[in-house]
Amino acid sequence: MIPETLKTELQDRVASAITPREAAVDVMKELQRHYGWLTDEAVTEASRILGLSPLQVEELATFYEMIYRRPVGKQMIHVCDSISCWNMGGESLLERLAAHLGISVGETTRDGMFTLLPCCCLGNCGQAPTMMVGDNLYGELTVEKAVEILKKESSNL
Ligand code: FES
Repeated sequence: MIPETLKTELQDRVASAITPREAAVDVMKELQRHYGWLTDEAVTEASRILGLSPLQVEELATFYEMIYRRPVGKQMIHVCDSISCWNMGGESLLERLAAHLGISVGETTRDGMFTLLPCCCLGNCGQAPTMMVGDNLYGELTVEKAVEILKKESSNL
């Protein structure tokens, strides 16, 4: 169950969109922020707010890589694995961050703090390799720099 204020806010967002689908990502992201991930309950809420079937919401949710249909950590780490970042050591960065966190790529740390995922281009190719932690984008990374960033990000929670 979501608070009435959030429901009203999301209904207003849908009402101001040309089509409900246009607002689907915003609705799913806000519900995800509320629940921590896009739970089955959130899919049902989204379908009611958007006037779409739960299956249509499910299809949209599984299309977008930053919508999570299973529990994730408090902070998401997305390491870009597209061409510029790959060329600048993004693959090794991803593997070494996984080793630092003591998890495999795709997993969540035991303390529930971080989930580590590869992702498509983050639009920061000129500063490759790049990662996003939560909503913050970081470029020109080394493993050492990335580890420092994670320390800072976890202390901000
Ligand atoms: S290729 Fe990594 S940000 Fe574009």
